[in-house]
Amino acid sequence: MSDSVHFDLAREVARRRTFAIISHPDAGKTTLTEKLLLYGGAIHTAGSVKSRRATRHATSDWMEMEKERGISITASVLHFDYQGFRINLLDTPGHEDFSEDTYRALTAADSAVMLLDNRKGVETRTRQLFSVCRKRRLPIFTFVNKCDRAGVDPLGLIDDVQSDLGIRCFAYTWPVMRDGRLIGMVDRGDRTIHLYQRGEDHGATRAEVTVYDLTGDEVATVLEPDVLEPLRDQLGLLDGAGEGIDFTAVARGEASPVFFGSALTNVGVDLLLRHFLDHAPPPTARESNHGPVDPVEAPFSGFVFKIQANMDPRHRDRVAFLRVCSGQFEAGMSATVSRTGRTLRLARPQEFLGGERTHGDTAVAGDVVGLHDRGEVRVGDTLAVEPLEYPGVPRFSPEHFAQVRLDDAMRRKHLDKGLRHLAEEGTVLLLYSDSLTGPVPVVGAVGQLQFEVLVDRLRREYGVEVILDKLSFCAARWVRGPETEIAKLAAGYGVRRVQDADGLPMILFENEWVLERTVTREKRLVFEDVQPRTSGRQDVTREGMTAALS
Ligand code: G4P
Repeated sequence: MSDSVHFDLAREVARRRTFAIISHPDAGKTTLTEKLLLYGGAIHTAGSVKSRRATRHATSDWMEMEKERGISITASVLHFDYQGFRINLLDTPGHEDFSEDTYRALTAADSAVMLLDNRKGVETRTRQLFSVCRKRRLPIFTFVNKCDRAGVDPLGLIDDVQSDLGIRCFAYTWPVMRDGRLIGMVDRGDRTIHLYQRGEDHGATRAEVTVYDLTGDEVATVLEPDVLEPLRDQLGLLDGAGEGIDFTAVARGEASPVFFGSALTNVGVDLLLRHFLDHAPPPTARESNHGPVDPVEAPFSGFVFKIQANMDPRHRDRVAFLRVCSGQFEAGMSATVSRTGRTLRLARPQEFLGGERTHGDTAVAGDVVGLHDRGEVRVGDTLAVEPLEYPGVPRFSPEHFAQVRLDDAMRRKHLDKGLRHLAEEGTVLLLYSDSLTGPVPVVGAVGQLQFEVLVDRLRREYGVEVILDKLSFCAARWVRGPETEIAKLAAGYGVRRVQDADGLPMILFENEWVLERTVTREKRLVFEDVQPRTSGRQDVTREGMTAALS
């Protein structure tokens, strides 16, 4: 590679910021996402987030069901350029049943913005997602939202976050209040006060801001003493007692800078964006089975963290979302799927902004590209030009099971196709149970909502109406050992033999007691809660995953 190309690649990688917003539902993630797009210049007016939940439809929502239910179900990626940075924003599903999808999105991120409601502080979902980020030592930036209305006192809130999550926090911005109304922000970094003009358009366009030196005389001409004095007292308190501003600790994932603001009225969003971009890390070296892979020095490599079929009814296809970890992706290049050893010619990547697709020719480390997939890749697969494998993306062990029943037997082919596609995307785990009439599909999921999504998508995208008959099993294990032993076990109480979509035998267990008893008794059999052939995918035990999420 020539020096000039090398230099450009290094510069390109250095300007990437790839992150996810983590929050409890309702904290304002959709609103903040939209305002980041507004301030980042990707959209000119915000307003697709309507106040009425039923009609709400944000730019990052794609699927019909998301719009209807007011929840964000699939991870999506938005990217845009702002002040020299290339921002890749990974949207993470908010519903608790979608922890697996969210977890996958976080494997592709280099940092996270943790969004809190100023009245509620840390909530269940925040806690779970935080612990996933913590495990990966992701730098976390905190945004305390909804400060346009009264909430927990900011100092108390910071204290709560610190004690609840066990991370050091320091206020980077501080709210300026007048008569209980949020009018501005102090930037503690450069000691300035930002006063926001309240627009007539309810935050649809960027707010007018005037900036004053915190210590200068001019600010006293616009802020009354009863605003300025308590503010200066609070800041003095913060300077004296609070955690110092320390971005090296943020980079190690040991401290979090706290920004206050209101996504709805735009106050503080600009400061969050600017300081986030300045201090969030660009892509760094990632661990692989051959040691750390430098994002600039190494040739192209990346891993698939999500597959989605039929994102757009106008294009019936599958898109594999690939996080580029090193080097440069160029349209037409070839890369090898480490799991299968197959070499693929990678067509032009697709870029996304909301439902719109555009085509881009290159992508570098830090970018997420959507690739057309004809069934060659799976979630967790590494694609690289040199033999190399990333630890991959964990799969959760399902805890809910249902047998799939078809009303119209003529649609069986469509059903099989739909189930196969949706299982490859990771929507559900697809299993088959033997019956007198042949194999019957059984699906496994981490959360019930995944079943609803399955039924809905089978109907919408494959024209198949199914009924799911819930099964009373609560755990599944892959089983290895002598066939006679497996057959004997399968004839016993509280278990059922099934096989996964790759034909590997599995046992379903009715309850934890049966599971434990079986595992202890059956010495000649090996039970695994991860698929035995796991090349390219680092499966995690249920205990491990539960620990990560609890
Ligand atoms: P989510 O994606 O995290 O679930 O949150 P979303 O952006 O949809 O916001 C949830 C609600 O919070 C919305 O209210 C939204 O307008 C409101 N909200 C978001 N940011 C702010 C903010 O900075 N200040 C205030 N005051 N509200 C904010 P909604 O859909 O109108 O309905 P409702 O839930 O309030 O009834």
